[in-house]
Amino acid sequence: MKVKQVVKIGLLGLGTVGRGVYRILTENAVNIERRIGLKLEIKKVLVRDLNKDRGVKIDPGMLTTDINEIINDPEIDIVVEVLGGVNKILDYVLRALNNGKSVVTANKDMVAMHGKELFAAAEAGSCDLFFEASVAGGIPIIRTMKQSLAANNIEQVFGIINGTTNYMLTKMTREGSDFDTVLKEAQAKGYAEADPSSDVEGYDAARKIAILASIAFNTRVTLDDVYVEGITKISSEDIAYASELGYIIKLLGIAKWTEEGIEVRVHPTLIPREHPLASVNDAFNAVFVRGDAVGDTMFYGQGAGELPTASAVVADIMDAARDLVRNVPGIIGCTCYDNKPIKPMGETKSRFYVRALVSDKPGVLASIALVFGNKNVSLASVIQKDEEGSTAELVLITHETKEENLQDALADIRQLSCVKDIPNVIRVEG
Ligand code: NAP
Ligand code: HSE
Repeated sequence: MKVKQVVKIGLLGLGTVGRGVYRILTENAVNIERRIGLKLEIKKVLVRDLNKDRGVKIDPGMLTTDINEIINDPEIDIVVEVLGGVNKILDYVLRALNNGKSVVTANKDMVAMHGKELFAAAEAGSCDLFFEASVAGGIPIIRTMKQSLAANNIEQVFGIINGTTNYMLTKMTREGSDFDTVLKEAQAKGYAEADPSSDVEGYDAARKIAILASIAFNTRVTLDDVYVEGITKISSEDIAYASELGYIIKLLGIAKWTEEGIEVRVHPTLIPREHPLASVNDAFNAVFVRGDAVGDTMFYGQGAGELPTASAVVADIMDAARDLVRNVPGIIGCTCYDNKPIKPMGETKSRFYVRALVSDKPGVLASIALVFGNKNVSLASVIQKDEEGSTAELVLITHETKEENLQDALADIRQLSCVKDIPNVIRVEG
């Protein structure tokens, strides 16, 4: 049994999250040591650029550009991966696990794509693999689902799990800001991914819901299983119409267990203004979990940014250090023991918001309503506004219907000569 009073850490990355980890481990060192009875010491830090200003006071001798100085160092017990990216990084992490080092990561891309392989390596090396910060930043949701809610059959997990897009939608709704300006703000605040298209196209949230669904339903859900739509088509018109109808637009990640299979999707969603998620603003995230025993639970907090994310990373490091000295790694391991089918998106049900530009003449609404009726889609409400000249804008809300019925109806409606464009279709929940 390894008995240590000092646990040494190799930190991979000193960007937004890495800087936060460094700050918490140095600024809160005394209390951290008292809480776990161990001293945590960062021995080496991997970066790309040795000369960059890091915004923290760090001994330049600790910095390296050579991964081998960390993963081959027998003194280093825990490797903390906050670099981002997948291929090269997966190799680093697997090598660390194969060398018997526990790994803490914030990398949802890698966990969502290679979870199986990573857990197998951790088990083989008798190491911990912790990834609390990979979903919903500072909100403790992974440990909560794996441990505190372990007695339940989870029926649903859904919520706002991307800070960047929530920040952007909040600013666009409250201040009428334009898309590009608010994206730049989110980047400046350290919320966005290195490639922010992964935030705005919904892929970051998709990776997170894949991780949550895998844990919730004990079956491996990967990014390829997730239906993904981002926020790039959301316009000020959609936000204004949603508001007129009593809704707010949020990007939701949704995973539901059903008899026919697991539903797992990410898309912009109209939710009623009084829904608890409607007041989750800025970079905050919120995750709902419904278990058969516990009922509804909701977890709220900052989903991105330096210190909130580092809060989750450092707590993982503390657990890994405790496990190491007690020689009990692997307590939280892979729980994907089932192989459940994914429900095709066409089979899922929703209400829908449809915005269409049509010819402003008698009979147009009736002809559109007829197509919807033929495809078993019934309409709940309609707004019509005159646009310029001969064009009118129609906003329709449907009753709940199957996705494939709605898509079939839209394909036919697009063929109608009176329909000029359908700029947006958004699902409605709640
Ligand atoms: P970041 O600000 O871009 O920082 C990345 C750091 O890693 C930089 O210090 C960079 O070095 C270093 N790095 C990247 N690739 C490297 C390589 N191949 N070799 C050596 N060093 C390399 O990224 P971040 O926002 O901290 O995000 C890091 C990870 O945390 C990502 O997986 C992200 O998805 C995840 N995450 C981020 C947040 C957030 O709010 N930002 C929240 C949750 C999870 P240089 O500084 O020298 O360029
Ligand atoms: N880019 C991510 C977000 C960081 O905006 O939520 C946290 O995972």
